[in-house]
Amino acid sequence: MNDLVTQVQATIDGPDERLNTIVGLLVKHLHAFVEEAEPTEREWFAGLDFLVETGQMCTPHRNEFILLSDMLGLTTAVDDVNHHGPANMTPSSVEGPFHSPAPTRELGDWISFGPERARATPMVVHGKVLDCDGTPLAGAVIDLWQANDSGLYDSQDPAQDLGNLRALLTTDADGHYWFRTIRPSSYPVPTDGTGGRLLKAVGRHPMRPAHLHLRVTADGYRPLTTHVFLAGDPYLTSDAAFAVKEEIICHPVRRPEGSDRWRLDGPHEEIEFDVRLVPEDWSAE
Ligand code: BEZ
Ligand code: FE
Repeated sequence: MNDLVTQVQATIDGPDERLNTIVGLLVKHLHAFVEEAEPTEREWFAGLDFLVETGQMCTPHRNEFILLSDMLGLTTAVDDVNHHGPANMTPSSVEGPFHSPAPTRELGDWISFGPERARATPMVVHGKVLDCDGTPLAGAVIDLWQANDSGLYDSQDPAQDLGNLRALLTTDADGHYWFRTIRPSSYPVPTDGTGGRLLKAVGRHPMRPAHLHLRVTADGYRPLTTHVFLAGDPYLTSDAAFAVKEEIICHPVRRPEGSDRWRLDGPHEEIEFDVRLVPEDWSAE
């Protein structure tokens, strides 16, 4: 390690050991970055201005730093180091900026009430919430949110009431859940801030593959925030937020007829997605 890094690290001596370690490592890796990249002073200050502008974009409803973290794969990296568990657990995946409180709904309810309902492909989503040993979990709560067929969440779209395409559902005695919705489309991450400018400057597209978001909680189990991605989406291999994992890609089945079971009276798509939660006291040994 060079003298300067050692000198800076020697000054780190606060009461919180974990914080001392994190700041020490940050110093080490930032200095290594400067040594390797050799930024000019102009470039360095442009970088600092970029961070100032990123901070200025933030409001109680928008956090541009989280977006940068998502777009640089850092949110997924933090997710990966924090969520170890049995091989068959449902993997977690980034939360993104569009979660908000959802209305409680009954199993089987429609969650689409906006103009999208008349034009988009109807879809039934069903499955079970299970322990990793296959035991169904009754009373698990699924908080779900999704964009519409134009890629817009309720909070971005005056044509949707707040709470549209959102729900809080509770699994039945067999751990089963189901709801009726519409097929979401792929959409761009917000591009009107520094995050969007960075993507453009480095020649990246802003698109996310079509998905639904789930946050699943059950007593005695670790809360799980994840996505359900739709197979066949052209952006699955280049998600702007690096959140795609093989195990959470679902294959929608096209049903040309209506279904009594799912209370759908015409062509629709069906997705089956089981969620396997990890017990709170799980450990690798
Ligand atoms: C989203 O899926 O809502 C999202 C995730 C990461 C960045 C931007 C949007
Ligand atoms: Fe999303």
